[in-house]
Amino acid sequence: MTDGGIQLIDRAEAAARLPEFESLLQLALTAQSRARAPYSRFNVGAAVLAGSGVAYPGCNVESASYGATICAERSAVAGAVAAGEASIRACVVVTPTAEPSSPCGICRQLLREFGTELVVFAASSLSDAVYVARLGDLLPLSFGPDNLEAAEGVE
Ligand code: THU
Repeated sequence: MTDGGIQLIDRAEAAARLPEFESLLQLALTAQSRARAPYSRFNVGAAVLAGSGVAYPGCNVESASYGATICAERSAVAGAVAAGEASIRACVVVTPTAEPSSPCGICRQLLREFGTELVVFAASSLSDAVYVARLGDLLPLSFGPDNLEAAEGVE
């Protein structure tokens, strides 16, 4: 157990919490092997579970103009939305670090679009370790669609 609702578990425990975890992990591992990361050499794979029950993979795609790089998590979200999905329940991300690396701030913010209850599993391609957390715990007091709806405008 770690602070703030973020827990360190293993793959078996992750599968106990989310029945689709193992298939999401395999999808993410395959995507990781296809990542385009010639500059960082840091291959990342992801898979998101849409509300329909279908899973979508993503990987990081780097650019020679470094800032144009897209992360694996946002790549998976784009694939799900392009396929017609409106909701996302969970995201599994796999990094080549024995201690799993959790999603960057930009990816947390995009995942936030699908709600604070979305569950993130940060796994490793080198170990059995998995961090699990609600998006709301990864991004407390987040800015989201509700904030735009609550706006009253400026005269
Ligand atoms: N990366 C991801 O794909 N997801 C993250 O959450 C963090 C970082 C990628 C971006 C870049 O291609 C490489 O990892 C090194 O930052």
